Amino acid sequence: MARVYSPGALSAEQIFATGMRDQWHAVCPSDWVERGAIRKLERLGEQWVLYRQSDGRVRMLADRCPHRGAPLSQGMHLGDRIACQYHGVQVGSDGTVLSVPGMPGCNLEGKKLVRSLPVQEVGGAILAWFGTDPDVEPAPLQIPDPLAADDVSAFLCYVEWDAPWRFGLENLLDPMHGAFLHHESHSMFGGAQSARFRIRETDRGFFFEKTDQRGVNFDWVEFNRTGVDWVDLEIPYPSTAGPGGPFGIVGMVTPIDADRSAVFFWRYRRVTGWERDVWRFLYRTTLEDRHWAVLEQDRVMLEHMAHDADQAENLYQHDLGVIRLRRMYKNQAEEQAKALTDA
Ligand code: FES
Ligand SMILES: [Fe+2]
Repeated sequence: MARVYSPGALSAEQIFATGMRDQWHAVCPSDWVERGAIRKLERLGEQWVLYRQSDGRVRMLADRCPHRGAPLSQGMHLGDRIACQYHGVQVGSDGTVLSVPGMPGCNLEGKKLVRSLPVQEVGGAILAWFGTDPDVEPAPLQIPDPLAADDVSAFLCYVEWDAPWRFGLENLLDPMHGAFLHHESHSMFGGAQSARFRIRETDRGFFFEKTDQRGVNFDWVEFNRTGVDWVDLEIPYPSTAGPGGPFGIVGMVTPIDADRSAVFFWRYRRVTGWERDVWRFLYRTTLEDRHWAVLEQDRVMLEHMAHDADQAENLYQHDLGVIRLRRMYKNQAEEQAKALTDA
């Protein structure tokens, strides 16, 4: 009988460490997958291969040849399919074996033997649905509204950090670090260094926000679950940053494996007309470097946290957002592990 490789049952701990399944995750910037090329990637602790078909659509397959498990990413791009380099087996975009050149008519032909993930491109990034059951349709992906808005002009910034994905996301659910870690930055020098926070529910997640300050520093963040998990946050700009509204960030953090993360930030501003041109010019010439310097402070902090930093903490009121996030993901990991075991 033909076999399809799948990672099989995962424990709740493994899911918590390598990322939630049955949702969309940002995978990589769109321009990483060029026409005619093959891109190998690790995401959620698994190996994947991405390529663009001749019509430009991105495809994502498990990086494992159905014959003897060789990496398809070593293979050849044949327009709509990949040919494994080891013995030439050709796999189509939905994971079906299209040809076994060494043995024409072989019974592997026509069988769907490689996992293939549904893919969409959003805001210059490739997102994929990491479903546990290939027969279940992916949940609808609602694009983060700032990325769909006409009055928003965004730049995608991509980084990889040697830190677990949860550290990256928790950092975003922790606005108070702005007034300390980034206090010397161009945008987060102002405001009080003490605050009270609250959680405010929405129909797609929640706000975690200061009760006593807004529009001065990193004062709020919104966590959203719209098929993909993402945050939106806002930081006021000083007048030197040119005309237009405050500086916004849509953020997503995708596990590479249990210890490394792919971090996506769409840095945006609500600007139209000539203000949009000024924003894009200023970002490229001055602001981008400053933002990278701020992001570097986050990277250094998160990469140097102990891997088990969250095992012996003493949290206070400012950590309610982090607590909420962890509880949500822990519960979800347990539910998913149980469903995989029961399947
Ligand atoms: S392992 Fe890929 S064709 Fe044999
Ligand atoms: Fe930060």
